[in-house]
Amino acid sequence: MSSNVMPLPVVQFVQRPSIVELGWGHPDPSLLPVEMMRRATEAALSRHGSDALQYGSIPGPGPLLEWLQARIAGQESRAPGTEELMVTAGASWALDAILSVVTDPGDTILVESPTYHLALRILQDRRLRLVPAPADADGLVVEVLEERVAALRREGRRPKALYTIPTFANPTGACLAEGRRRRLIELAAAEGLLILEDDVYRDLAYDGAAPPSLWSMAPPGVVARLGSFSKCLAPGLRLGWLTAGPDLVGQITGGGLLDSCGGINHYTALVVSAVCEGGDLDRQAERLREAYRPRREALCDALRGALPEGCRFEQPGGGFFVWISLPPGVDSEKLLPRAEAEGVSFLPGTRFHIDGGGRESLRLAFTLYPEAELVRAAALLAGAIRSHMRDRRSG
Ligand SMILES: Cc1ncc(COP(=O)(O)O)c(C=O)c1O
Repeated sequence: MSSNVMPLPVVQFVQRPSIVELGWGHPDPSLLPVEMMRRATEAALSRHGSDALQYGSIPGPGPLLEWLQARIAGQESRAPGTEELMVTAGASWALDAILSVVTDPGDTILVESPTYHLALRILQDRRLRLVPAPADADGLVVEVLEERVAALRREGRRPKALYTIPTFANPTGACLAEGRRRRLIELAAAEGLLILEDDVYRDLAYDGAAPPSLWSMAPPGVVARLGSFSKCLAPGLRLGWLTAGPDLVGQITGGGLLDSCGGINHYTALVVSAVCEGGDLDRQAERLREAYRPRREALCDALRGALPEGCRFEQPGGGFFVWISLPPGVDSEKLLPRAEAEGVSFLPGTRFHIDGGGRESLRLAFTLYPEAELVRAAALLAGAIRSHMRDRRSG
């Protein structure tokens, strides 16, 4: 190969050197546990030998399933039975796998709004009819959801599922309030609505324990909960888990895909199992909380001091993101090029809505950079908002 050919990329996202990239919800590479994974790989091969390289047991390898059962039992009010649990290739894969067995194109699905923009892409790929259900600082507004379900029923449409992120949501950081959790479960159980609970940020709680999962509060079969090793270990592993009713888990594990390929990402699952059993996962989660908590605080403190009047945000209790509401008339799509020219990037709020809403909002991720860079980015963002507002007034 000639030396002037650019090598093909290894990773999805390459940071632009002159911009503080607060648009990407990726972990700081310096916090990814390379040595821990090296040790775990060695341990998995020593323990399992050629079994680590065989087609794997379909729901996932026994040691990881047993560890997950024990961990969930220790953290929540119930543990999944073996038929209620499976290893997945991450929450994204699990969402798509569930949609493949429970939906047909044209089906109606309710979606919390705003929501994780890339889950929207997965839902859109399945050609579903997506109906937004609004959320506020306490998460999904369940009374409005009830009205939406009733209105759909009057049109002869029965939504099959609701996609929601009730704990440290992406993009807002919000947690669904306790009373709303109960009311949502009652509604779903009464309407036969499957709740797709995306629960990937549970272990990144910075101010005490995360609220109980909807899955742990609901009767079996009402909630399918998506867990992931992406946030507390590494997204490149493509590994997570699903706790759901036995019928749903059985439909996925009984499908042709897993019959042909065996348990998903079997080798990786055994390596992760070695990380988990030795206590390294819990140590890594603690290390990440210790790293991200001061980043969250540094960014929020700096924003509080720097943002112009009319901007609002809540400091999130966990997760990766701060969601900012901009002053009336400030369009985040138009603000973005100016902010990037000044050296800071974000994701405009429109990306997180199905219906073009969210123009006057934006999402920042605080995970990728140390505190000093976040403080600098807050000042750059505030400056960009101010000049944008000035230009609007004078234009
Ligand atoms: C709410 C939410 N769900 C799922 C994912 C992706 O999870 P995974 O890497 O396990 O597919 C993300 C990543 O940003 C996310 O924010």
